Amino acid sequence: MYQSTLRAVTGQRIKQNLSIYLKGASMVKSNTMTVKNMATKALPRLPVPTLDQTLYKYLESVRPLLSNEEFAKTLELTEKFANTDGAKLQALLLEKAHEAENWLADWWLNAAYLDFRSPLVVWSSPGQLMPFTHFKDIHDRLLYIANVIEATIEYKKLIDDDKIPVDMMGKEPLDMQQYKKVFGTCRNPALPRDVQEFNPQSNHIIVAHRNHFFKVNLCGKDGNKLSVNQLVSQLKYCIELSKTSAPAVGILTSDHRDNWSIAYQVLMQDETNRNSVDAIQKSLYVMSIDQAMPKIEGQNRHTEASHQLIHGGGSKVNGGNRWFDKTVQFIIGENGVNGLCYEHSPAEGVPIAVMVDFLVEYMKRDGSKGIPDADGVELPIHLEFNVNADVEKEIIKSCKNLDALAADLDMDSFSFDVYGKEFVKKHKISPDSYIQMAMQYAFYRMYNYPGAHYESAATRKYLHGRTETIRSCSTQSVAFARAMMDDAKTPEDKVKSLREAVDSHKKYTVDALNGFGVDRHLLGLKLTSLEQNISLNPFFKDVAFTKSNSFRLSTSQVATKCDAFMCYGPLVMDGYGCCYNPRSNNINFAVSSMHSNPDTRSSQFREALEHSLLDMHDILVRVQKSKL
Ligand code: COA
Repeated sequence: MYQSTLRAVTGQRIKQNLSIYLKGASMVKSNTMTVKNMATKALPRLPVPTLDQTLYKYLESVRPLLSNEEFAKTLELTEKFANTDGAKLQALLLEKAHEAENWLADWWLNAAYLDFRSPLVVWSSPGQLMPFTHFKDIHDRLLYIANVIEATIEYKKLIDDDKIPVDMMGKEPLDMQQYKKVFGTCRNPALPRDVQEFNPQSNHIIVAHRNHFFKVNLCGKDGNKLSVNQLVSQLKYCIELSKTSAPAVGILTSDHRDNWSIAYQVLMQDETNRNSVDAIQKSLYVMSIDQAMPKIEGQNRHTEASHQLIHGGGSKVNGGNRWFDKTVQFIIGENGVNGLCYEHSPAEGVPIAVMVDFLVEYMKRDGSKGIPDADGVELPIHLEFNVNADVEKEIIKSCKNLDALAADLDMDSFSFDVYGKEFVKKHKISPDSYIQMAMQYAFYRMYNYPGAHYESAATRKYLHGRTETIRSCSTQSVAFARAMMDDAKTPEDKVKSLREAVDSHKKYTVDALNGFGVDRHLLGLKLTSLEQNISLNPFFKDVAFTKSNSFRLSTSQVATKCDAFMCYGPLVMDGYGCCYNPRSNNINFAVSSMHSNPDTRSSQFREALEHSLLDMHDILVRVQKSKL
């Protein structure tokens, strides 16, 4: 495809190095196979693509990000890598894949999460909104919270009894192990790598109010679960005991992981503190009852909610009313904001979104049919902390860091209401690919060059599967953006470019879902090299590798049936996060970037995205009308 252009620009050297590129083209089509010698478990094992398959796709994906000269050098380095270290590393990786149930699982857990030292806040933990509600008074709010708790008890029972319907991709069942890790999990700070702790059989939750933490047992002495009314009484008791704010010990969990690990040593020197931390870590989840967030001029409700769910408004508001290490922290605000913040290491957004839909539906039930009263209810235990001068020093540092981070986060969350996925489906286009192309077009119209673009694809059809990257920026996506901005092009030309871009994205998506993307395989080869003390091949230091891994757009579809959305920060300082929920007749978006970066503005990306979606609607409608 690029042969003639490149030959014209850079000559014969390219032609030779294109061999790998062309060889790959014929191989990519046949990638529905799975590794032989499968484990006896029902799900197949994550495959290792062939080196040629991956390198071909890699070259295709980096092409639009590079100049001709850069691409020529990349071709040369890639060819050399394929014939030297690449082949050696591939052989070692295949050996590992033969032994392991999932060759990637531990590497990914460590590389993507436990070794990642930036704060969980903004840089790792997403917020998940649930539909807004309105609380008449505090009793109304506590009743709502009690109902959420009851719904989680029912949901947990379904998980424990393996009664959650198995997620499917077409006819293929998906790995459900992430569901088992939603409740009772905690990511504890440690140097150089954090540690996960699992207590799924735990029987208590933590209620957080004004930075106080309470251990609330969910069962009476008779072993039965508490009723909604009993839960309301427990919550009232917690509120009564926490009328003034406690020192913000929880804020330590918001800090850089190295800072938190050091502060953890200081905090845990005291036995009372150790016991309190232990109760939090072993709980099923945290329920944060939040204070009102200050109104920020010009911010809509979705954006306000995103800030509350991601960082809690910093140390002056709810930042200390959190334990960010817990996988699930429900957040119920005075202002009717409901949702949660979740620590990403044990699960992707999908099990969280499924849980949210369950909770919302469950709470619509007839309340009189809930859990009956239990006998022998114990009062909640107020978890004490001894905050000596050393701990206080750490808290002051963490407050400063969280406040700076919270102030730097530039969010713009909104519902695009002109149309939703049904319109796109009517035009026989995949809604997900369409939205991805709208983002590519939005980025291009802002910067006049394309942005490396990450989208998550679930690889849960494989045992212990998690995600693969869909590299949404392609030669076709750039051609589409350019066509849209070219007044000389007819609507028919533009629709043709759109369909080509969508087809290319869809093809990559199918490959990624089947474990045949680029990123996880290259990560596997790189980590094999590091583990085996093989010096890192120049291929991994090439400009193509760096540019294509610096994802200016970090995007993810997290769909819920209810009117909700997920939100998170960007992946890089000069990038955007964009999580979306395509609904039948609207699309919820949460756009993020960092104020401190002069080149990004979430409101501008939102404008560009809305503009792009309207332009795309316009050309599809015009071309359709002209055919009638
Ligand atoms: N014509 C008409 N309809 C089409 C179509 C076409 N050409 N292509 C797709 N559709 C339909 C589909 O049948 C589907 O219909 P449904 O609403 O009845 O189910 C709908 O459009 C949506 O399909 P599509 O937009 O193509 O994508 P998807 O919903 O399958 O999602 C991924 C694609 C990659 C997002 C998804 O497979 C995935 O991996 N999700 C998990 C992502 C993740 O892990 N997120 C969390 C990260 S923390």
